[in-house]
Amino acid sequence: MTTSLWGGRFTGGPADALAALSVSVHFDWRLAPHDLRASRAHARVLHRAGLLTDDELGRMLGGLDDLEAACAAGEFVPTAADEDVHTALERGLLELLGPLGGKLRAGRSRNDQISTDLRLFLREESRGLAAAVLDLAGALADQAEQHLDTPAPGMTHLQHAQPVLFGHWLLARAQPLLRDVSRLRDADARADLSPLGSGALAGSSLPLDPEATARELGFAGSVANSLDGVSDRDFVAEFLFAGALLGVHLSQLGEDVVVWNSREFGWVELSDAYTTGSSLMPQKKNPDVAELARGKAGRLIGHLTGVLAMLKGLPLSYDRDLQEDKEPVFDALDTLLTVLPAMTGMIATMSVRREVLAAAAPQGFALATDVAELLVRRGVAFREAHEAVGALVAHCSSAGCELGDPTDAELAVLSPHLTPEIRTVLTVEGAIAARDTPGGTARPRVAAQLEAFRTAAAELRAWA
Ligand code: ARG
Repeated sequence: MTTSLWGGRFTGGPADALAALSVSVHFDWRLAPHDLRASRAHARVLHRAGLLTDDELGRMLGGLDDLEAACAAGEFVPTAADEDVHTALERGLLELLGPLGGKLRAGRSRNDQISTDLRLFLREESRGLAAAVLDLAGALADQAEQHLDTPAPGMTHLQHAQPVLFGHWLLARAQPLLRDVSRLRDADARADLSPLGSGALAGSSLPLDPEATARELGFAGSVANSLDGVSDRDFVAEFLFAGALLGVHLSQLGEDVVVWNSREFGWVELSDAYTTGSSLMPQKKNPDVAELARGKAGRLIGHLTGVLAMLKGLPLSYDRDLQEDKEPVFDALDTLLTVLPAMTGMIATMSVRREVLAAAAPQGFALATDVAELLVRRGVAFREAHEAVGALVAHCSSAGCELGDPTDAELAVLSPHLTPEIRTVLTVEGAIAARDTPGGTARPRVAAQLEAFRTAAAELRAWA
C-alpha cells in the first residue's frame, strides 16, 4: 500500500533528491497532537454532513485516540518515507482502521490542515511563553521592591545624568516585558480564526461546516476567505515579531547586567549558580547568562526577517515556500523558553551592592539639574540658570571638587544667581524625592508604579 498522499497520477516514485528536499516530518511531527485534534473536529463535521455513519465516526474517533496514545508512548513514529506530519498520521490511521482511515481526507487539504495545526500550536505555546515572561517580570518586580530606597546613578549615554531609585531602573526593564506579553495576546486574538474548510484553496463542494469545526477547536470563527485561509501567515510573522522584540528586551537587560557586574561598576554580584568560570583563568566568574541572552537576540531577529522575506513575493494561494514557516517558529520558541528561566534565576538571585550604588549616585555632577531648577523656581530664566550652573560645573571639574564645595565668595564670582541656598538641593535624597511627578523617581511614585505593575501582570497572567 502506498502511504504517500498524492501518488495517483505519477508513474514513478519521487527522486531521492526531491524527497530529501521536500520532507518536513522531522520538524513538523511536533504538530502531531494538534493535527489529531483538528482531525477529530473534521471527523465530526464529515459525520454531520452524512459522509460518515455513526459507526464509522465512532471507529474513526477511537482510531484517532489510539493513534494519539501510540504517538505519545513512542509506539508510532514517523519514518523517513512519511513526507510530513499529515502523511505520517494518515498512514497510522490506515494501519489501525484499514480503508476507513482513508475517508478522513475528504474535504480537507494539507494546505488548510497545516495552517490550522500551526495556529493551534502557537495559540497554546504563546500562553506558555507569556507565563515564562511574566516570571521574569515578577523577578524584576521583586528586586525592585527591595530597592525602593536604594539611590543609583541614572544614566543617559551611559553617563551619569540624574540620580534615580534602583527600583525605578529595575521596573524600567520590567515594563517592556508586560508589553511583550500583551503583544503575544494581541497576536493571539488575530490568530483566533480557523482555516479548516478552506480545503486546498477554494473551499469544498461537500456540505462541511467550518464554523462548527472552528468552535470545536476553540477558535472564535472560521476565516472569511479560503484563499487567504491557506496562505495567510500573518500570525506567524506577528509571533516572530513579538519574539524578536522580546529577545531585544532580554538582550538589553542582559547588557545592563553585564555592565553592572563588571569590576568597574561593581553594582551587583551574581550567584555562582548563574555564572560560569574560565578554563584558563581560575579567578573568572562570567555573566554568561546575560551574554547569551544578548547573543540570542540575533537569531530571533533573523527568524522574523527570514520569514518576512520568504512571504514577500508569494503569489496566491498556497505555495510550498510556506513550509519554511515552521522551523523559525519552533526555534524562536525554544530559544526564548531556554533563555527566560535562566534570566529569571539570575535576576532573582542577584545581590545588589547598595553602598556602591548610593556612593555612585551623586557622582559626575549628577545634581547640577537640581541647582538649575532651584534657580528657575526663583524666577531665573532656564537658559540663564543652565549657564550659571554650567560655570559651576566647569569650576568644580577643574578644581577637582563637588558642587557643594566652593565658598560663598567663589560662587558669587561664578554667577550672582549662585547664592549659598543652592547647597540645600545638593543631596541625592532630596533630588530623588523632588521628582514627584507621575512616572517619576520619587519613592511614592515608584511604589505606586510597582503596585500598578503587579496588577497589570496579574491580569496578563490570567490570560497566559
Ligand atoms: N508540509 C507542508 C507545509 O508545511 C504541508 C502542506 C503541503 N501542501 C502541498 N500542497 N504540498 O506547508
